[in-house]
Amino acid sequence: MATSGIASGAQAVYDALAKEIANRGLDIVLSKAGSMGMDCIEPIVDVIAPGKPRLSFSKMTAKMVPILIDRVVNGDLNGIQPAYRMDEMELLLQGEKKAYFSGSVPVDCSGIPQINELPFYRKQVKIALRNCGMIDPENMDEYIARGGYTALHKALTTMSPEDVILEVKTSGLRGRGGGGFPTGTKWESCRRAEGEIKYVICNGDEGDPGAYMDRSLMEGDPHSVLEGMIIGAYAIGAHEGYIYVRNEYPLAVANLQHAIGQAREAGLLGKNILGTGFEFDIKIAKGAGAFVCGESTALMASLEGKAGEPRAKYIHTVEQGLWNRPSNLNNVETWANVPVIIARGGQWFSGIGVKHSTGTKVFSLVGKINNIGLVEVPMGIPLKDIIYEIGGGIPGGRKFKAVQTGGPSGGCIPDTMIDLPVDFDSLWEAGSMMGSGGMIVMDDKTCMVDIARYFIEFLVSESCGKCVPCREGIYRMNEILQDICAGKGRRGDLELLGRMAEAIKDGSLCALGGSAPNPVLSTIRYFRSEYDAHIRSKKCPAGVCKALIQYNIDKEKCTGCMACAKKCPVEAISGERKKAHEIDQAKCIKCGVCMETCKFDAITLS
Ligand SMILES: Cc1cc2nc3c(=O)[nH]c(=O)nc-3n(C[C@H](O)[C@H](O)[C@H](O)COP(=O)(O)O)c2cc1C
Ligand code: SF4
Ligand code: SF4
Repeated sequence: MATSGIASGAQAVYDALAKEIANRGLDIVLSKAGSMGMDCIEPIVDVIAPGKPRLSFSKMTAKMVPILIDRVVNGDLNGIQPAYRMDEMELLLQGEKKAYFSGSVPVDCSGIPQINELPFYRKQVKIALRNCGMIDPENMDEYIARGGYTALHKALTTMSPEDVILEVKTSGLRGRGGGGFPTGTKWESCRRAEGEIKYVICNGDEGDPGAYMDRSLMEGDPHSVLEGMIIGAYAIGAHEGYIYVRNEYPLAVANLQHAIGQAREAGLLGKNILGTGFEFDIKIAKGAGAFVCGESTALMASLEGKAGEPRAKYIHTVEQGLWNRPSNLNNVETWANVPVIIARGGQWFSGIGVKHSTGTKVFSLVGKINNIGLVEVPMGIPLKDIIYEIGGGIPGGRKFKAVQTGGPSGGCIPDTMIDLPVDFDSLWEAGSMMGSGGMIVMDDKTCMVDIARYFIEFLVSESCGKCVPCREGIYRMNEILQDICAGKGRRGDLELLGRMAEAIKDGSLCALGGSAPNPVLSTIRYFRSEYDAHIRSKKCPAGVCKALIQYNIDKEKCTGCMACAKKCPVEAISGERKKAHEIDQAKCIKCGVCMETCKFDAITLS
């Protein structure tokens, strides 16, 4: 079970299943699995019975468990309908599919859609997430049964380190943690760097608000990360590795720790791996959850026990990284792609996606979107396919306004660019970036000035303060944005923000400051009229910035039902029953509860 499922009540469902199976003395194997991605329909229970497709029951509750067990035992699906079925599973590393049953689809399952017929899954291609939701992350045998550790065996027994690097270079794999640096080139530089002792590091810090791709991978398929790291260590010539995970990810830490123990026991970590003489081991280091500690040099400083502050980039970490030794650091998703590249070949991998952005990318699709969840799509997929097909559009039939990609220092892509291909270069040209895969969707009720203010405020609190352009610059940008949202914007503010942005980008030591102005610049670029409305007309067109809005009661429409007055948290609404009510503007905190409550559309926003 992944955190997303547990947050929806999966533990209670699991406990109820365990109890029901034990009480009835049933011969059913109960196991846990990570997230399949469609987190909006969690908790999901998959049932695999002989001669049947794999059936997935969504939004399960503990109360539904006895009914589900009845139906499973009797082979009758009446009263409880699965969300989808799987007729076969893809064994990606072997390049083959394995059917769950032979012959034709049983009659009672024929009306249930296949997983790939669902719009959420139809255009997804799972490489990094190949095992998430399909295996028990605590059971290494299940990982092996799906081809796990065959790539490691292939690399160690049939390939030289240079062959491995060449294969990764051929794949075109670019780092999934933010910068998109070519992985094979980084490995090659680290291999060539002088030094007996070298390190490989996995960056599992994942500090972007709304992002949980890496958490899901570490929770749902920890061995894929380990296997990628062991292959990388062999290629680079490292014997020690670290996985840096934030302390807020206890399940990821537990599953990784468990997997490391299993790998050691099986001779896949430690001395003489697979009898080849190669030696490598991995330790887990827990971070305290600072966003800046995801930056490679700050992460290494933190690993060394120092304050998590970045350092200048002219000293390359592949030559002088952790403890000044040559170090290769990659993101969780980057590592999880490696076994597939070695098993299927770099050429195969480069055939997926587009020319300079090969393979797939995992995104956490959150915000104002119907199908909230984790999605893995081929690079270059049009944004509209992610928003409307996979994501199922905007809740309440509202209008799509923008999507923020690239984390807090990414940019906002407007609705007019809905056809944009989602790849490293297109996102960059649009003033945003891929980042590590957070995708926050916004509807027409979102104020883009307020969004820029929110991200800048986040970055102000996360800046390590080491260099002046970032420490002072984004602090001042934040002050200007706060003023604009409070109706105190001045003419010339946008030009000033633009000039400050250039100075901050040029002068900051690390990419936190270097990319911090992105949300401001991209929202000014695409939503300038909203800034103008705030500054010149002192209006917030989306009705979000509290200083610029006022709730009123339309006396013609108000029936005096008193519903709003009862709900108002500060007793700002007065009036007798069946007579028009009134809002005391001095008391009103502009929470909007009255507007949500009124059934007669009598509350207006001006
Ligand atoms: C402020 C900041 C935070 C970052 N946070 C992360 C993170 O949480 N995870 C990550 O993999 N990379 C993060 N990065 C990018 C890393 O510095 C580094 O480029 C990346 O981990 C390299 O791995 P890759 O080549 O596999 O992408 C961050 C960068 C900056 C500037
Ligand atoms: S740019 Fe910001 S986060 Fe990066 S080193 Fe300077 S002060 Fe620290
Ligand atoms: S907006 Fe909130 S505080 Fe103001 S009147 Fe309505 S319910 Fe009361």
